[in-house]
Amino acid sequence: MAAIETEALTKDFPIGFWRPRPYRALESLTLSVGEGEVFGFLGPNGAGKSTTLKLLMQLLYPTSGTARILGRPVGDVSVKRRLGFLPEHPYFYDYLTSEELLTYFASLFGYHGEDRRRRVAAVLDEVGLGAERRLKLRQCSKGMVQRVGLAQAILNEPEVIFLDEPMSGLDPLGRRDVRQLMLRLRARGCTVFFSSHILADAEALCSQVAILAQGRLRAQGRLSELLAFELKGWELVVSDLAADRRAALESRGVRITHIDHDRCTLELPATPGPEALVHELAGGGARVVSLMPVRDTLEDLFVREVAAGGRRDTEGL
Ligand SMILES: Nc1ncnc2c1ncn2[C@@H]1O[C@H](COP(=O)(O)OP(=O)(O)OP(=O)(O)O)[C@@H](O)[C@H]1O
Ligand SMILES: [Mg+2]
Repeated sequence: MAAIETEALTKDFPIGFWRPRPYRALESLTLSVGEGEVFGFLGPNGAGKSTTLKLLMQLLYPTSGTARILGRPVGDVSVKRRLGFLPEHPYFYDYLTSEELLTYFASLFGYHGEDRRRRVAAVLDEVGLGAERRLKLRQCSKGMVQRVGLAQAILNEPEVIFLDEPMSGLDPLGRRDVRQLMLRLRARGCTVFFSSHILADAEALCSQVAILAQGRLRAQGRLSELLAFELKGWELVVSDLAADRRAALESRGVRITHIDHDRCTLELPATPGPEALVHELAGGGARVVSLMPVRDTLEDLFVREVAAGGRRDTEGL
């Protein structure tokens, strides 16, 4: 069974005051996320990521289409208690401390007494909030508030968790902590659906991703399938390359970039392989510092899909 499924999910917002007309923020999104996966929902600003998450959380209602979570229609109360959600801009009553706020949420989830105290302490430890848990939220930094948001999202030990830009506002250490938290959730069998435009996070965490741009799904699948892992070329770093050799290589169309006074990078095509050239250079007195294959990255795919979307859209106008 899929943990999350959407079928032609569409959302129009009315825009304009005197003569409102519909603006399509999400166009016929059909997605399926397997149980226990960490799924990256990627796209540039304004792509429709938060709109999708709000539709899944029923903070918005779709113009058309349907969505199911854990096999039940969204809105099914028995499913809601099995979900966690971190909104894009978490905002809490800020005269409470994080400990007090989470104790209040834990009561809503039905935790009481010693059990509740233990649960609140456990989630605060899990998101890395130490003594700061006794500070009023209005005295907390943005990163701390983000961690409190994460703590409330995992408080009820959810089976499926939705995180809208979980790394936002966090420094590199905070981002690493959140990545580790997401991997721990997955290890416990939780399905993690998170939105981001930070591609490195998706590359580090997800087996599956979807790329959304201008409200439309541009690509979906396993990262290994989406990224053509075929070789694009080679990057060869050499030192002590004689000037006449360099000139000869440049005249053969090899691009050469200087790194410092005696090292430079050579960009070589995928075929033929670099062996013959390495041999030739070594024979001429140059030394090989490193040889690296150049492959497609998630960033290349993202730029390609988003740019392709832009062209398609303007073609239709
Ligand atoms: N309530 C609303 N009324 C009108 N338009 C809206 C509303 N909410 C969102 N939109 C529009 O829908 C589009 C998608 O917005 P959304 O917030 O889903 O994007 P996003 O992918 O989350 O972007 P970001 O990375 O900046 O958070 C945007 O063009 C936005 O202006
Ligand atoms: Mg958003």
